[in-house]
Amino acid sequence: MTRLLCTRCGTEYPASLPRWKCDCGGLLDLEMAAAFPREKIQARPPTLWRYREALPVADDKGIVTFGEGFTPLVPFKLGGVEALVKQDQIFPTGSYKDRGAAVLVSKAKELGIRSVVEDSSGNAGCAIAAWCARAGIACQIFVPASTSPAKTAQISMYGAELVLVPGSREDTARAVWMAAQTKYYASHSWNPFFFHGTKTWAFEVWEQLGWRAPDTVILPAGNGTLLLGAWVGFAELLKAGEIQSVPKIVAVQAERSAPLAKAFHEKLDYIPAIDKKYTLAEGIAIAEPARGLQILQAVRETGGDILTVNEEEIEISLIDISRQGAYIEPTAAATTAAAARYLREKRDSELVATVFTGHGLKSTEKMLKVLEYHQDE
Ligand SMILES: Cc1ncc(COP(=O)(O)O)c(C=O)c1O
Ligand SMILES: [Zn+2]
Repeated sequence: MTRLLCTRCGTEYPASLPRWKCDCGGLLDLEMAAAFPREKIQARPPTLWRYREALPVADDKGIVTFGEGFTPLVPFKLGGVEALVKQDQIFPTGSYKDRGAAVLVSKAKELGIRSVVEDSSGNAGCAIAAWCARAGIACQIFVPASTSPAKTAQISMYGAELVLVPGSREDTARAVWMAAQTKYYASHSWNPFFFHGTKTWAFEVWEQLGWRAPDTVILPAGNGTLLLGAWVGFAELLKAGEIQSVPKIVAVQAERSAPLAKAFHEKLDYIPAIDKKYTLAEGIAIAEPARGLQILQAVRETGGDILTVNEEEIEISLIDISRQGAYIEPTAAATTAAAARYLREKRDSELVATVFTGHGLKSTEKMLKVLEYHQDE
């Protein structure tokens, strides 16, 4: 049975309703019975849709796809120590957000939705805009006026209506909120279908490791859309008896924007207000993550941790990875910087998986600044 469940008051709604929040204002989670028939999975094309029995789209005809997913899981040295890294920067729009957009927009099409709104630091907006273009759904994308031009150009080229909002990422979230009262909110933080796309990260890692889970996953935590998806995915694999336990989840924040790290280390049961400062990692600079408490729960329940990285560590990791031939955006280097630190202290036998979340071509202006600063190295 597939149903929407309010995380605040417990009200249930059928998943066939075009609904992204509860009447009480609470966040909705999607619950479904996921199955993993290995022979069928292996016989299908290498896309995220191979986990068909675990994806909440009723009819194959409704699937909106570019053949995305099943990104390579490649060993890389992070700060000199090897880890397995999902190459999610090679998705069609250049970030892992395509996982969420593929499932969410397929579902929106199935529900007969003609027009959506979304807000983003850039990459989720690119992903929703691309899938809406393919689905023939109108979309309006709200982003902070300071968003990298590569991302705003990409959104506009897909034919989406771009709304530039002056001020912070939180100002953008408030602006879209008004629009979302009358339109379907294709939100990567509110809409539960997005997480049932990002959960495919866990399924792919599980299959690529020979049907087993890693011991530890290191993932970014801005709004936690990949992290929470991975948590859902591994939990579904556990429930189906496919793995023995959910991996330890290590979340990463930029030191200059780290409300979740503060909550975790001070053992708070709320997300504290922070004084957010500029960071190279624009994609994870989220002061008020809508699902912050769920992120804390995922980290706490799996015995994980929340690491913070400073600007220098991000730059060093970005250069380290570029010199190995991978071009990732600075936000993605926040996660690899934290992974480099984690890997230095891990147990020898510990199997760690992490991710390159976004493509370097999105951030040419930032790359030029990093090059200028490090030109003597
Ligand atoms: C490249 C990149 N990495 C990581 C993240 C962090 O994702 P989340 O906010 O879902 O935690 C984002 C979000 O926009 C991103 O664009
Ligand atoms: Zn409710």
